[in-house]
Amino acid sequence: MSHYEFECTECFRSHKADPQTLRCETCFGTLSVKYVNSKKQVNTLVGGGTLEMPIPLCSLSEYLSLGEGNTPVVSMPNISSMFEVEAHAKLEFMNPTGSFKDRGTAMMISALKSKGVHEIVEDSSGNAGASVSAYSTRAGMKAHIFAPLSAPRTKLNQIKIYGSVLHEVDGSRDETTEAAEKFVKNKSIVYASHNLSPFFIEGTKTFGYEIFNDFDREMPENIVVPVGNGSLYLGIWKALEELKEKRLIKTLPKLHCIQAENVNPIASNNTWNKSEMKSTVAGGIAVGSPPRKLEVQSVLRQSGGTANSVKEASIVEWQIKLAKYEGLFCEPTSAAAFAGLENLINGKQIDKNESVLIPITGSGLKDVFPE
Ligand SMILES: Cc1ncc(COP(=O)(O)O)c(C=O)c1O
Ligand SMILES: [Zn+2]
Repeated sequence: MSHYEFECTECFRSHKADPQTLRCETCFGTLSVKYVNSKKQVNTLVGGGTLEMPIPLCSLSEYLSLGEGNTPVVSMPNISSMFEVEAHAKLEFMNPTGSFKDRGTAMMISALKSKGVHEIVEDSSGNAGASVSAYSTRAGMKAHIFAPLSAPRTKLNQIKIYGSVLHEVDGSRDETTEAAEKFVKNKSIVYASHNLSPFFIEGTKTFGYEIFNDFDREMPENIVVPVGNGSLYLGIWKALEELKEKRLIKTLPKLHCIQAENVNPIASNNTWNKSEMKSTVAGGIAVGSPPRKLEVQSVLRQSGGTANSVKEASIVEWQIKLAKYEGLFCEPTSAAAFAGLENLINGKQIDKNESVLIPITGSGLKDVFPE
């Protein structure tokens, strides 16, 4: 018996951890990894080697790394004094392919490789595709990456340079997913959707473990995350729950979820109508039907976080402000979190003198530059 299985996030039915199983066979709910056999559990050391984190691999030697994780945390003195808070950034753009996705991809590709998978399909707004392309090459797997034709050229070229087959889709982010699902139908290729694969969140979990160490075992009071499908948001929460279960932390941060006003299926308070979706400069969070929406909403309730929508002009403004005030150059999707920070402070969801951590999820070099 393996030390983990997949569990439905809605009806809690157990499933064998098969790479082809991405949805619950009873209720079509999304799946997550559940560790069931502590005697066989495999742990990796994270947070500067100080913490054990359970992983869905049978041995540490199965883990394929390109050096992801352990990203720096820096203070943001100008934003801190502007808002009278204690603001820190975790520099996720310093991951090997320039975004936080590498955390999830490293674990997902390692787990799939350990199960004998040699050909995969993925769909992405660009960053996850570039990440999957790099790690599948490292694993000796063939990868087909579906991405919108409208994605920044830099991201599309990055997908290609690692050697994957790029399928450009003349349509929205959601239509890109549909094209990938159609392509994989009736083929033996594995659909390695980073949004559905339970392995991906087991990798983004490392972010939550690292901050325990980054903040000297004191968690920040707030974490503000740009959310499309919620893979980082949910990975952070899973880490926090595991740390709480080990009695290492008592109070959990508020996890705030930031979306673009033009695509806000989670932040719109159930008034969202996908047919009215408009385009956004924050391409990484332009997800009209996030499959893990119920999970994100549940974490919002449990953590006391707020879901907030930000305006296009504010996203662009904050990309420039972050570069000018703090010397940090992020892509527009990441800047959305800062536009959200401003709203949360104005709306008093974050109070004066509170500590705030913002992941800078992707590099400014990957997207179109503002003039
Ligand atoms: C730079 C960046 N930030 C945030 C996100 C949102 O991640 P998720 O869709 O897992 O919530 C993405 C997704 O593509 C991204 O590329
Ligand atoms: Zn179910």
